[in-house]
Amino acid sequence: MNKPWDEAFEVWRNSFLDIQAKDKDFSNLSKAWMQKAVDNKFSYQFDWMGVPIIQMPGDLVMFQEIVWKTRPDLIIETGIARGGSLIFWASMQKLCGIDGKVLGVDIDIRDHAKKAISGSQFSQQIELLQGSSTDLEVFEKVKKFASPFKKIMIALDSNHTHDHVLDELRLYADLVSPGCMLLVLDTVIDDLDVDPERPWGPGASPKSAVIEYMKSRPHQFQNLEDFEKRAVFSVAPTGFWMKI
Ligand SMILES: C[S@@+](CC[C@H](N)C(=O)[O-])C[C@H]1O[C@@H](n2cnc3c(N)ncnc32)[C@H](O)[C@@H]1O
Repeated sequence: MNKPWDEAFEVWRNSFLDIQAKDKDFSNLSKAWMQKAVDNKFSYQFDWMGVPIIQMPGDLVMFQEIVWKTRPDLIIETGIARGGSLIFWASMQKLCGIDGKVLGVDIDIRDHAKKAISGSQFSQQIELLQGSSTDLEVFEKVKKFASPFKKIMIALDSNHTHDHVLDELRLYADLVSPGCMLLVLDTVIDDLDVDPERPWGPGASPKSAVIEYMKSRPHQFQNLEDFEKRAVFSVAPTGFWMKI
């Protein structure tokens, strides 16, 4: 799709993106802000079309760009929580004129999430599957559901341990269609001080899992630099991967 803006604007803003990427003060301040935001549960404070969504607002703008640019007809997300992110993906497909579906997989789909989704204007577009995302029987159902779709995107946002995300990657990354995205969320855990009681943290996180996985698949996915450079207030640094 042609961009409806001039080249000069693109050059101008990219020059600032390069400056920003090299600006140590900016990156230190961003990291300090992110640490406070995570400590204060900032990402829990937002709704999408009336339903709680556990994401950073800036990420939602980038996710919108992804749907606009890659036009997935199936978006599979592991980790539903209250349902807001499934409603977000479905609403983006609709806004972008994509005749598609969203499949949400969660080990524990609560009644409030079911109610929120069934009561939304996107209920016909969203399918729910309960079970662990890495359970092979659950994954077989996902594969069956995905088989008629041509442009499949995956967002991993369930259990954030290294081992679980690595297992998810080994199953779900192969479903991503060329030209579509694999999003690995909450990679930011790796860069922050997190509750030591949690089974994840620096060196054992979605980021360490995706780095390990991508080493074994060097030519299948490309880490999208333009997203990474802008991912300063993102839960997903090193999490934006396009299938080649
Ligand atoms: C961070 S929340 C998801 C947030 C949601 N995507 C949003 O943006 O609002 C994590 C979810 O992962 C689910 N979960 C935890 N372990 C899981 C597993 N093994 N398989 C699937 N879902 C799991 C939890 O039940 C929880 O609902």
